[in-house]
Amino acid sequence: MQTTILLLLAAVLLVGALGWLLHWLLIRTEGVFLGRRVVVWLYDLAAPRYDAIKQYDPDTESAFVAWPLSRRLKGRPAPAVLDVATGTGRLPFFLLAEPIFNGRVVGLDASVGMLAQAWAKLAAYDDRAALVRGSAVDLPFADNAFAAVTCLEALEFLPDDAAALREMARVLEPGGVLLTTRRQGAEAGYFLGRARGREELEALLAGLGLVDVRSQPWQVEYELVWAAKGPARVSQI
Ligand SMILES: C[S@@+](CC[C@H](N)C(=O)[O-])C[C@H]1O[C@@H](n2cnc3c(N)ncnc32)[C@H](O)[C@@H]1O
Repeated sequence: MQTTILLLLAAVLLVGALGWLLHWLLIRTEGVFLGRRVVVWLYDLAAPRYDAIKQYDPDTESAFVAWPLSRRLKGRPAPAVLDVATGTGRLPFFLLAEPIFNGRVVGLDASVGMLAQAWAKLAAYDDRAALVRGSAVDLPFADNAFAAVTCLEALEFLPDDAAALREMARVLEPGGVLLTTRRQGAEAGYFLGRARGREELEALLAGLGLVDVRSQPWQVEYELVWAAKGPARVSQI
């Protein structure tokens, strides 16, 4: 009788531990420790419900992201912006709605499902918006091609955030603007070292030749991180 109870208890504990592990792997960290394919598959599944879950507020998106970015790009004729891991097109959508923004936006994401949602939202801007399926760590664009590169709420889901940031710096033109985010808060702990500390991320960006690196409070779970690409180095003979 006692053995049966102990076995039952062990079974309950095992099932509980397995359930917690699955929850951590698939829900808390969205598949990131299971590889890129699982992350993308989970986003494909979640895509139709993604915007309803996130409930972006247009005023907040404008005040913290779209307007400040437009301001930084003001004066450049038709600036090109690349949004890496664009998801359902959040940044392109709010940036293109900003009256002072007169440029165009390319959104890149690895999930076809997320891109399909983005395309439905951006159809009204089809002359100023383009979407590309691709990987953040291997951007299919030329060096110095964009006046701004953005990547919101995504670094911690990428297979190699440093490689992705290196790519973003590569395609950014000298003097161009980089805007990304740093995961913070209680949930960041679930990412076991994939969510970098503020100083660590700022140092990484500085090491990639980015200047004026500044972190700015944003949401409970994310900070905004702004930077600029330094001027092109003139080779000394
Ligand atoms: C949390 S969502 C953020 C989406 C959007 N930036 C936003 O703020 O709403 C993360 C996005 O990263 C994309 N993603 C994950 N791994 C990727 C990779 N290796 N390359 C490109 N996109 C990736 C996912 O498909 C998903 O759309």
